[in-house]
Amino acid sequence: MTADEFVTQLAAQNEALLERLVPEATLKPEVEGDLTVINLLKVALKNEIEATEIAARWLVTTEELPVKLALARQVGDEARHYRAIADRLKTLGFAATTFDPLAKGYGPLFKYLDTLRGTVERVAAGQFTREAIAVVKNRQFIEFCEAAGDRETAALYRDIIEPDERHHHELGRTLLRSLATTPEAQQAATAAARRTLELAEELQNQALASAGIHHAPGC
Ligand SMILES: [Fe+2]
Ligand SMILES: [Fe+2]
Repeated sequence: MTADEFVTQLAAQNEALLERLVPEATLKPEVEGDLTVINLLKVALKNEIEATEIAARWLVTTEELPVKLALARQVGDEARHYRAIADRLKTLGFAATTFDPLAKGYGPLFKYLDTLRGTVERVAAGQFTREAIAVVKNRQFIEFCEAAGDRETAALYRDIIEPDERHHHELGRTLLRSLATTPEAQQAATAAARRTLELAEELQNQALASAGIHHAPGC
């Protein structure tokens, strides 16, 4: 299979598996307290700092220059998202400056991504797949904010954060086309994408089991 054919196939497989995340309940067992915009934004801070840090770690330990540069841009974008969300929380009356989103440690997806050594796996999992999940989750979060009457948070996601996450996913697609050129690389990419989706789904199932927690944004 050519790299182009492979990426088209992987996108279709991801798409089919992502459907399972689409119903009402998405991710996030780690919301504490009521399901409010503020509590979900606190989860978003954790996602953004983890996305910033994994991209930064990979930037240092990835050889391929185009991937390095893509990761560098992503580090900046995710950190900017963190800041924008913290500012929004402040407006909503929550002092994000005194909040440590990593106080309870890194999440399972971060820990898995941190084990990946191959560039093709990193791009398949971290950019191509994780960012596709983010696009789905953010779409749901925007709807949640609108239903809750919080148009400003919805606009922050729709106009600023969402276009960046989509760009990260597209960057992953472009890079994967240049990296997934052998059967071995394609196999590694598929396995990494699968595991990423599995972890997302496991989180979702836990969330469902522990009482209808959903709508947390991704990055
Ligand atoms: Fe992102
Ligand atoms: Fe982000």
